[in-house]
Amino acid sequence: MKAENIKEKLSNVMDPSCNQTLGETDSIKHVGIDDNNAVVLIIEVAEKDNETTKKIQREIAKILKIDLGFSGVKIEFQKRKSRNKDAKTILVASGKGGVGKSTVTANLAYALKRMGKKVAIIDADIYGANMPKILGGVGHQLMGDANNKVFPFEKDDIQMVSTEYLVEKNRALMLRGPMLGKILKIFFEDTLWNEDIDYFLVDLPPGTGDVMMDLKNFSEDSKMVLVTTPQESAAHIAIKAGYAAKDLSIDLLGVVENMSYYEVDGVDHYIFGQGGGQKVADELMVELLEKLPIVPTENPIYKESDVAGMIYLNLARKLMKLF
Ligand SMILES: Nc1ncnc2c1ncn2[C@@H]1O[C@H](COP(=O)(O)OP(=O)(O)OP(=O)(O)O)[C@@H](O)[C@H]1O
Ligand SMILES: [Mg+2]
Repeated sequence: MKAENIKEKLSNVMDPSCNQTLGETDSIKHVGIDDNNAVVLIIEVAEKDNETTKKIQREIAKILKIDLGFSGVKIEFQKRKSRNKDAKTILVASGKGGVGKSTVTANLAYALKRMGKKVAIIDADIYGANMPKILGGVGHQLMGDANNKVFPFEKDDIQMVSTEYLVEKNRALMLRGPMLGKILKIFFEDTLWNEDIDYFLVDLPPGTGDVMMDLKNFSEDSKMVLVTTPQESAAHIAIKAGYAAKDLSIDLLGVVENMSYYEVDGVDHYIFGQGGGQKVADELMVELLEKLPIVPTENPIYKESDVAGMIYLNLARKLMKLF
């Protein structure tokens, strides 16, 4: 009997830890037959507890030994991958839209990666998801496996999911309350993230919306970075967003001021004024972590050797110390 046939014969065996069959979850990862005509299996289970493994072992032994006449069965059980429970979650938020949240999220991801960390991005900007445009992967669809888990997009070793991957091209996502929770559940619980991810960066929609509140259900100990530009109007709303986070007991790691200055021949020009970032930091009693220059560029991801790239490395270093 061939390995494929054995797999087929075992496909209806139930994994009691997730109430699905081994066929449904495609959990039989290896089938072999040793010199003594015993079957050797590697099987993934949702939970590797005694009750689960014993039950599966018993059912499989019955099929292989009694029904099919093999001399014995050896099973190695492996726990199916899930999100690293020790991973840290950093929410990237702002008051106003368009201040550079997504740009900061993406560049921070690269900076953390350049410092040896494993990073994933959750693009939770449900109204204007643009991470796929920044990172690539426009038009990617989240495919599910038999267990209804979805595979994230991956580029340069950075994994990413986006609300854009859940809607048809060029159509906005119409959200009602419960749907938001469902989307966050997919991203936080039903995505096959690499097990060794150190940091999840969440690109939030602007403002103090429902997303922040719902996020608490999925990632209780997430901390926040607030992005603002130097303008008074942006700073004013960023402070509101900061207070909303405090109300929800979300720790603030600090403030990043984006589009702070434009450098020409060694002279910095403060096109959007000065002081917004510092004002937000002072009001919320946190550190102004970095000020980022205006860099007109086609490629939104700065190189490690760019001035902005180096500032992002400093930002990553500071955040790694704080969280
Ligand atoms: N430091 C910078 N220098 C020059 N352009 C920048 C800088 N930061 C961001 N931008 C540009 O500004 C625009 C808005 O940035 P981004 O999309 O990151 O903001 P956002 O806060 O995520 O916006 P939204 O609220 O729409 O999600 C983009 O075109 C981006 O390339
Ligand atoms: Mg954005």
